[in-house]
Amino acid sequence: MEIDFWAQRWKEGRIGFHEGRTNTFLARHAGRLGPPPRRVLVPLCGKTEDMAFLAAQGHDVVGIEAIEDAVKAFFREHDLEPSVRELDRGVRAYSSERVTLLAGNVFDCTREHVGAVDALYDRAALVALPADTRTRYVAHLRGLLAPGSKVLLVTFDYDQSKVNGPPFAVDEPEVRRHYAGGRVTLLDQGPLDGPKFREAGIRGTEQCFSIEL
Ligand SMILES: C[S@@+](CC[C@H](N)C(=O)[O-])C[C@H]1O[C@@H](n2cnc3c(N)ncnc32)[C@H](O)[C@@H]1O
Repeated sequence: MEIDFWAQRWKEGRIGFHEGRTNTFLARHAGRLGPPPRRVLVPLCGKTEDMAFLAAQGHDVVGIEAIEDAVKAFFREHDLEPSVRELDRGVRAYSSERVTLLAGNVFDCTREHVGAVDALYDRAALVALPADTRTRYVAHLRGLLAPGSKVLLVTFDYDQSKVNGPPFAVDEPEVRRHYAGGRVTLLDQGPLDGPKFREAGIRGTEQCFSIEL
């Protein structure tokens, strides 16, 4: 998906993916990221409340989001005044106490930008990307994470022939392919919800994986 597509959605307020509260699976399984303080990478983060939840748990959060207005909205909505730093490759870092959000394309974010990270929380991020990009995306993230990192991954699976993504359907075998070499456990699942699926009458599953790299 091109960045322009997401810029348009944020501009028009078409952000049905934004839950506005802590994700149920994260609330249930945050312990799988390891005891705080971990430094948790949250790629394609939007302005998710999950980052405030992780910070409140005592973790440090590094989010990556291409749409700078979403980054600004996160800090504004939490009454935080971030400091702003220009990095190279067109990336800008917004930081407050426990949360740093990198405004830029995830593929432009380097280890130098992100710093040391030993946990990954991915909700509606892997599934936001088309199939040909997902392999490159996970390889890139794995290059940023320290060995032994813990991952909490929330994916959607449904009949892709019934409706186009995003979000795209990502099934368990695909998750296992991306994270080959890690210990992948399907932790939890529930019915897929969301306006897009409800309107199209599509049933699917939301799955939560714990992965140890
Ligand atoms: C489906 S939303 C999920 C947001 C968030 N994870 C959540 O649960 O609310 C995907 C987000 O990824 C951002 N995005 C898409 N492609 C990106 C890229 N290449 N680099 C950084 N952010 C990207 C979009 O702007 C959008 O905010």
